[in-house]
Amino acid sequence: MNLPNILQQALEREARTLRGSALQQATQELSERYRNEKQRQKIMQSKQHFVSSPEQRIAYLLSRMPATFEAIRYVLNKLKERYEGIFGSVLDVGAGPGTAMWAVSELFPHTCKITLLEQDNFLISLGKKLTLQAKTSLFREAQWVEGDVLKQDCFPESDLIIVSYAMGEWPKPVWGEIIKKLWKSARQALVIIEPGTMLGFQVIRQIRQHLIDLQAHVLAPCPHQHACPMAEKDWCHFSVRLERSPFHKQAKGALLGYEDEKFSYIICTKAATALPEARILRHPHKHSGHLSFKLCTQNEGLADRIISRRHGELYKKARNLEWGDSL
Ligand SMILES: C[S@@+](CC[C@H](N)C(=O)[O-])C[C@H]1O[C@@H](n2cnc3c(N)ncnc32)[C@H](O)[C@@H]1O
Repeated sequence: MNLPNILQQALEREARTLRGSALQQATQELSERYRNEKQRQKIMQSKQHFVSSPEQRIAYLLSRMPATFEAIRYVLNKLKERYEGIFGSVLDVGAGPGTAMWAVSELFPHTCKITLLEQDNFLISLGKKLTLQAKTSLFREAQWVEGDVLKQDCFPESDLIIVSYAMGEWPKPVWGEIIKKLWKSARQALVIIEPGTMLGFQVIRQIRQHLIDLQAHVLAPCPHQHACPMAEKDWCHFSVRLERSPFHKQAKGALLGYEDEKFSYIICTKAATALPEARILRHPHKHSGHLSFKLCTQNEGLADRIISRRHGELYKKARNLEWGDSL
């Protein structure tokens, strides 16, 4: 999968504003800030921003935005597959450079209003700059709001609310309160995405329970509303493969032309939707004559299933299924 052309070109223009070595160094710093648990805690306790220097902001655009874009696109696709409503308005909370807006524009062309709440004024400026060549009114009329999520008494009411790769930057004790406010402001659906790590999944697992307690209907990935059956040390996550542009490779000092972005997510809706019988939790093992799946199921929690030729039509359909699909 590729980024929209206009976005790719805008990112490349930004990349040219930095020397290659400065870009690589900032990308490494950023990666350390997000991955090293000690650094994470220090940043959160001192109320610093994770993306804090001009170089780190460009590094975010080049090394993270393509991956978070693909994860958001994947999750919004799952929403679109199972939900028929139209999202006239969208709120993106912790919007960064406006990553979700690009995915919304592609998947929900009827959306005419987007509000992007972000604390970092420089990221807002960069986000606006990225959209300069975009033609649709969604980009031109986007409302960027500089503000701290933790200080909002309420959020602008919107059909769809997206919080992508941001929740984990907020202190755990406030998640419940924020989710309550977000859920109140979401007219139709709320989407939360976090990195596909054990830590990211723990955020999603807790948020899921908060939302179920608020009478939310889980649309994906879970095929049920019961307690999450995932074992304590395991985590439910999914993956998208994205191509790395030459600048993306340069930022990461990487040789491979692609990377796999792992993420965990939850989509909840106000109206109940029909849930699938199961969700595929790992790459299926495809053998000659049979397939083996690790599933989260509606009625039996986690389960391993073999589907073989003798299952006829089901086998034919199941051959095309991948990790993350519903069964
Ligand atoms: C990892 S970035 C994700 C950006 C974007 N949502 C994406 O998926 O690419 C997290 C963003 O959340 C913003 N953020 C974190 N805490 C915030 C807060 N308390 N108020 C507003 N924005 C916040 C950060 O400034 C940063 O831009």
